[in-house]
Amino acid sequence: MTTVLKLGGSVITEKDVPEKVDDEALRMAAATLADHEDLAVVHGGGSFGHHHADRHGVTTTEGTHDAAAIRDIHGAMTRLNAVVVEALVEAGVAALPVHPLSVARRDAEATLTFPTGGVHAMLSEGFVPVLHGDGVVHADRGTTVLSGDELVVHLAEGLDADRVGVCSAVEGVYDGSGAVIDRIDSFEAVADTLDGSDATDVSGGMAGKVRALLGLDAPTQVFDLDGLEAFLEGGEPGTHIG
Ligand code: IPE
Repeated sequence: MTTVLKLGGSVITEKDVPEKVDDEALRMAAATLADHEDLAVVHGGGSFGHHHADRHGVTTTEGTHDAAAIRDIHGAMTRLNAVVVEALVEAGVAALPVHPLSVARRDAEATLTFPTGGVHAMLSEGFVPVLHGDGVVHADRGTTVLSGDELVVHLAEGLDADRVGVCSAVEGVYDGSGAVIDRIDSFEAVADTLDGSDATDVSGGMAGKVRALLGLDAPTQVFDLDGLEAFLEGGEPGTHIG
């Protein structure tokens, strides 16, 4: 029963302050994960990845051939990844870091290739792989941003995951009147009500998240930190997508 869980960058960092971890939120998330098995974790960029990507004008579609720029973005993400892994280890989780830049690529049509065999092997041996949004080498564009959401979708398919959870800063996807939508089964149905994230986000905010998650076979939930335990216990907090 494999679960892929995204910890949103805006959950574990203070998104408006460059490279600032939300220690309390991260500690709570780590403690909640502690008793659960067969879990692959992906975390977002928050105030670590997005500020650097923004500064260098790099997005999921705009690339750069400037290696220093991509080292900046990747370096920030690996710093955050080390902090997340350490918090999980302190909570008793057998966490191991996985850095997508080293193994992922996009072709000229922007199709992502990410070999999931190593992650699968980690899960089989009882480890908790911890991946992150990153840079990705992109044919003819140098390197673009690989969002944690895209990675979640790719991992869920590659691992044939049974469940997908996206722990975000909001308790679910809101409709126009501010109520949490229970279920979303098509993008058109919600496109008008989804606005972008309010902080710097190079990968599309909630609309991009929903669009990416709609393609998945596995049941997917979007919820906030308060919903994390319920999700890991098999419940359906927040918004069901798919
Ligand atoms: C962004 O990942 C990664 C980089 C900017 C390098 P995400 O787009 O998944 O991050 P959050 O969760 O929205 O912060």
